[in-house]
Amino acid sequence: MHKIILHGGNKLRGRVKINGAKNAALAILPAVLLASEKVTLHNVPDITDVRTMLRIIEDLGTTIRRRGRNTLEFYPSSLRGYAPPYNLVQKIRASSYLMGSLLARFGKATVPVPGGCDLGPRPIDQHLKGFTALGADCLIEHGLINLASGKLTGAHIYFDVVSVGATVNLMLAAAAAEGRTVLENVAKEPEIVDLANFLNAMGAVIKGAGTDVIKVDGVKEFGGAEHAIIPDRIEAGTFMLAVAATGGEVIVGGVIPKHLEAVTAKLREMGVEVEVEPEQIRVRREGPLVPSALKTFPYPGFPTDLQPLGMVLLAAAEGTSVVTENVFDGRFGHVDELEKMGARIKVEGRIAVIDGGAPLSGAPVSATDLRAGAALLVAGLIAQGETALSDAEHIYRGYENIEEKLASLGAQIKRLRAGDSSSLAGDPG
Ligand code: UD1
Repeated sequence: MHKIILHGGNKLRGRVKINGAKNAALAILPAVLLASEKVTLHNVPDITDVRTMLRIIEDLGTTIRRRGRNTLEFYPSSLRGYAPPYNLVQKIRASSYLMGSLLARFGKATVPVPGGCDLGPRPIDQHLKGFTALGADCLIEHGLINLASGKLTGAHIYFDVVSVGATVNLMLAAAAAEGRTVLENVAKEPEIVDLANFLNAMGAVIKGAGTDVIKVDGVKEFGGAEHAIIPDRIEAGTFMLAVAATGGEVIVGGVIPKHLEAVTAKLREMGVEVEVEPEQIRVRREGPLVPSALKTFPYPGFPTDLQPLGMVLLAAAEGTSVVTENVFDGRFGHVDELEKMGARIKVEGRIAVIDGGAPLSGAPVSATDLRAGAALLVAGLIAQGETALSDAEHIYRGYENIEEKLASLGAQIKRLRAGDSSSLAGDPG
């Protein structure tokens, strides 16, 4: 079990560089399995979810060479397996993408029902409905999803819900199906566009990514490609919300500001100064925070992944705020932990009412999932005294060098290793 110790009270100041997008990398790595030649990926975040996905595709027979911390080369031509190992698949939600890529490559796949963050029920009915429409037989038995298809054939698929995962999976499978597939009511996230760009660079024919309708003309063979993964808008949003919470001034660099418009708008509404420049965003707060209503939606709405962090900011704003979680059923795991730190929050179904302004105080808390963990980190930065955040391994699933980055901005934070004492006294941060 990993633990992070924080002492709150310091304003964040300086510049931070954002890494490649976790959710783009987790969609692109399974897509690498379609290639027949070398693939080079740049800006791959060095986080545990990505390492798990790398181990899975290596286990299936892909040779991987590291050419730097964030650049990797792949040689997938020797790929042989179509049944990724249960113990690794269980760790990450995005392992479900192996269904689409293995189906495209081999016409069959046996993938354990995927794990990932516990955000309430996370069905995969839309994925399976799509595969079935392309002509695959889908059977769930003993915790395994068995997919088989003599031949994938293009189809017209209308998704009942907007799902990032189902959109990714059907793009992957349809890329190798015979004929045209039309996917309607798809997710428009930037990570979907990044995946389409990568697949097209390998020879796929995909149009419309970033809109509600994606058209895929299947091809028989894919070449290699060289691709740089887009910056992580959720990591960028995390730092924007962190400096908004602590006060101070931070330049969040290496981002695509267009991907962060919902966050930028919400912060401005709450009294935070946000200056948008071509590849960076400057966030500054000196005055008080204004309470607000925050509603999550699929992109381009406010991202559900930043809802827990948004809640910390609202807890720091004097007055009543309301959070409506529209994407996931059970995404309030952070509330109990924030209450231990003195936040006043009432949850009713998908709505949380925050009676903000009560000073937070440091406490022993636990990262119940990845973004809940990030939210508790930020809560620890504004709390009085020491916060001991356990189960911090959840945070390393999605953030590279998080302690180093926050410390470089002035936060008092350290990762506790076995045998360390918990005090930060004398630690310059
Ligand atoms: C992805 C992201 C996650 C983000 C989420 C929403 C990755 C690896 N993860 O998760 O960080 O929080 O998008 O932006 O990219 N649903 C169904 N049936 C399905 C599929 C989904 O009902 O077959 C529902 C889900 O229960 C949820 C909603 O659709 O309520 C959105 O889920 P989805 O977009 O699929 O999220 P993920 O792809 O799991």
